[in-house]
Amino acid sequence: MHKGAIGIFDSGYGGLTILKDIEQKLPEYSFIYLGDNARAPYGSRSFETVYQYTWQAVQWFFSQGCHLVVIACNTASAKALRNIQQNNLPSLSNNLKRVLGVIRPTAEVIGNYTNTNNIGILGTTGTIQSKSYILEIEKFFPSIKVYQQACPMWVPLIENNEYNSKGADYFVKKYINQLTEQSADIDSILLACTHYPLLINKIREYAPADMAIVTQGEIVATSLSQYLNRHQQLDAICKKEGSTNFFTTDDPLMFNKQASIFYGKAVESNYVSLHLL
Ligand code: DGL
Repeated sequence: MHKGAIGIFDSGYGGLTILKDIEQKLPEYSFIYLGDNARAPYGSRSFETVYQYTWQAVQWFFSQGCHLVVIACNTASAKALRNIQQNNLPSLSNNLKRVLGVIRPTAEVIGNYTNTNNIGILGTTGTIQSKSYILEIEKFFPSIKVYQQACPMWVPLIENNEYNSKGADYFVKKYINQLTEQSADIDSILLACTHYPLLINKIREYAPADMAIVTQGEIVATSLSQYLNRHQQLDAICKKEGSTNFFTTDDPLMFNKQASIFYGKAVESNYVSLHLL
C-alpha cells in the first residue's frame, strides 16, 4: 500500500497551533495541512453544514493519499467527527482510513490540570452548544465539574489579525469574566479552540493570577504519538519524510502571510477547491 502523509485539518489557521506541536513530537513524519479559510469560521454554523464541510475536507485528504486525518479544530471535532467515524468510514472500501479529533485526547488528561476538580471551558458557540466536553470529561473524570463559556467574537478577531489590538481587550475580558463568575472554584481554563492560543497573553492578563491556562497542542501531539504506537499497521503506511505541505481553500498569498503568525515560520501554500468534490 502507498504511504501517505498525515492530514491536519482546521476551518482556518487555528490548526497550525496544533501542527507545530505535532511536528515537534513526530519530526520524521510527513504532513499535509488544509485550512478551509474560504468557509471559516465554522463556530457559528449548523451541525449539518460543519459536517458537510468537514467530510468534504476528509475526502480530499484521502484523495491525496492520507490514511490518517487529525481534525485539529474543536468545532469540527464536536459537530462532525462522530458522524464521520460511525457512518462514513465504515462504508469505505479501504478499512485502514482513520480520522481523529482533539476533544477526546484533551478530555482524557484534563484531570491532570485541576486541583479543585472545577474546569472552565472556552470555545466557539458550536463547541459549547454541542456539550461535547461535558460529555467526554464525564466519561474519564466523573467528579470534575465543567463550566462553559462561548466566545463568538474571538475567532473573527484572530482571523482578522486584531488579536493584539486594544479592541480585543473588551471581548477577552467579557468572556473571561462570564466564565469565572460561574464559580469561584474554577482553577483551570481550557482553551478549547485551536485559534485561542494567539490570545493567550490577553487571556492571562484578564484571568485571575493563579488560574492555569491549558492549550491543546502538546496534549494532541502526545496522544497522536501514543495512537501511532498502538496502531503499528497504520503507522507503517504513514509517510516519514519529515515534510509538510500547506493548502488553503482561499487565497494562498493571504494564507501564507497569516499562517506564518500562527505557525511561527514561513509558509508556502497552494490553493484547493473543495466545492467540486
Ligand atoms: N479553530 C476552530 C476550533 O478549534 C474554530 C474556528 C472556527 O470557528 O472556525 O474550534
